[in-house]
Amino acid sequence: MKIGWGSDHAGVVLKRELMAYMEEKGYENVDYGNYDENDRTDDYPEFGRKVGEAVAAGEVEQGVLICGTGIGISLTANKVPGIRAAVCSEPYSAHMAKLHNNANIIAFGARVVGRDLAKMILDEFFGTEFEGGRHQRRVDQIMATEAFYSKKAGEE
Ligand code: RB5
Repeated sequence: MKIGWGSDHAGVVLKRELMAYMEEKGYENVDYGNYDENDRTDDYPEFGRKVGEAVAAGEVEQGVLICGTGIGISLTANKVPGIRAAVCSEPYSAHMAKLHNNANIIAFGARVVGRDLAKMILDEFFGTEFEGGRHQRRVDQIMATEAFYSKKAGEE
């Protein structure tokens, strides 16, 4: 599986370590930046948007986003049509984000989780399959909400 990665300066060091971890497990990584932890002039929305667009376009299958908290970068990714990005600071939420919500991007904060916890979060997210069934209906409702407001914005 191909994973798209994005982080601002706060997440670069953790992202590098996690990419190596996932590569060892056989995943293919594509890094959409930031590449320099010392470049504090960057803004997290750029990387949330790039990974969101890559996942939505099918360039990569799923994404991982890291900023200081995971919040700003995931909020941005969630503005890209087709994206369901979930901020998860522990493995249970990461498991459920895939099992019930079929999230296609996982996000967390490099200033919130340590590297071993981040690895457990990734293991849960990428080791879980969407359950479907009644949860498909609910995910469809999330996407219908997005489609409704996209259409409305297009008409204005
Ligand atoms: C950058 O200092 C910080 O605001 C950012 O990494 C993130 O936590 C935003 O949500």
